[in-house]
Amino acid sequence: MKKNVLITGGTGFVGSNLTEMLVANGFSVSILSRSKRANKKDVSYYIWDVEKQTIDEAAVNNADYIIHLAGENIAGARWTKKRKEAIVDSRENSIKVIHKVLIKQNHKLHAFISASATGIYGAINGEAICKETTPPAADFLGRTCQIWEAAVDTIGKLGIRTVKVRTGLVLGKGEGLIKKLKPIFKYRLGAPLGSGKQYMPWIYIDDLCAIYLKAIVDDSLHGPYNAAVEDETNNIAFSKTFAAVYGYKMWLPHVPAAIIKLGMGQMSKIVLTGRRVSSEKIRKTGFKFKITDIEEALRKVI
Ligand SMILES: NC(=O)c1ccc[n+]([C@@H]2O[C@H](COP(=O)([O-])OP(=O)(O)OC[C@H]3O[C@@H](n4cnc5c(N)ncnc54)[C@H](OP(=O)(O)O)[C@@H]3O)[C@@H](O)[C@H]2O)c1
Repeated sequence: MKKNVLITGGTGFVGSNLTEMLVANGFSVSILSRSKRANKKDVSYYIWDVEKQTIDEAAVNNADYIIHLAGENIAGARWTKKRKEAIVDSRENSIKVIHKVLIKQNHKLHAFISASATGIYGAINGEAICKETTPPAADFLGRTCQIWEAAVDTIGKLGIRTVKVRTGLVLGKGEGLIKKLKPIFKYRLGAPLGSGKQYMPWIYIDDLCAIYLKAIVDDSLHGPYNAAVEDETNNIAFSKTFAAVYGYKMWLPHVPAAIIKLGMGQMSKIVLTGRRVSSEKIRKTGFKFKITDIEEALRKVI
C-alpha cells in the first residue's frame, strides 16, 4: 500500500508542486484545506478550520507523514496588528489542532515536517552567514518563526521525528513573489530596491520539493535545515539577472527605501532586508541542489 503524506496548505504554491513530486514518487497525498475540492487519483482533500479548531480527523489518522505548509501569506497584505496576528496564529494554531488529534488517536506518524523561513534570523542586512545554530532574531519575522518552530516541537515531544525547513525565497512558475515581479521586469521596469545590497537567499521550487522528499525518506534528518542556495545573490545581482534573462540591461535607478516603506509599511522589511545563509547542514546529509545558478533559475521561471 502507498504511504500517505498529509500536506497542510497543500493547495498553495509549494504544496501543489510538492504534491506532483510525491505522487510521481509513489506516495498518496492528502491535503488539508479551508475549502473542499474534488479528489483526484492519489490526491484527497480534507477540510479544516484553524480558527474554530475543527478538522476532518481522518486526514490525520490516514497519514504516515505530515508536511505543514499552511499559513497566511507573509507578503499577502500590509502588516497591520491584525494581519501580524493572523500570520502567527495560522501557523501555530494549525499545529495545535493536529496535535490534539494525534494525542486523541494515539497516532504515531513517521515524521512531521514543517516549513519555516530564513526570516528566523531576522530582518537584518550584513555579511554574516547564518547557520542553523545562529540565534533567532527578536523582530517580527524572527519571533514568528520561533513560535512556528516551537509549535513543531510540541509534536516532537510526542516522540515523532520533526524537521523544520527554513526556506528562502522560492523561485518557480506559478504563485509567489516571482509572479508579482515578472510583469515589472518583463516590461523593462525592474530596478534594485533600496540599497540593493540586501542578500536574497533563494531556492528553486524543485530543489525545495526534493528537500521535503528527502526529509520523508531519510530518517536521519531532524531539526532545522536552511533551504536556500548559498551564493552571493543580493538584490542588485538578482535584479540585473532578471533584466538580462528578459534580454535587456537594467537601466532604472534604485527605488528609494523611503518610497518602498511608504507603499508597503513594515512589510517592506521583506524586500529591503536580507541575510546570507549557510546550506552546509542540508548538503552534509548528501542532498545536492540541482539549480545553484540564479540566472538558470530565473530563466526557468519566465
Ligand atoms: N514561497 C516562498 O517563497 C516561501 C519562503 C519561505 C517560507 N515559505 C513558507 O512555506 C509555506 C508554503 O508557502 P507557499 O508559498 O506555498 O504559500 P501559499 O501559496 O500562500 O500557500 C499556503 C496555503 O496555506 C493555506 N492557508 C492560508 N491561510 C491560512 C489560514 N489562515 N489557515 C489555514 N490555512 C491557511 C492556504 O490553503 P487553503 O486556502 O487551501 O486553506 C494556502 O494555499 C508557508 O508557510 C510559507 O510561509 C514560503
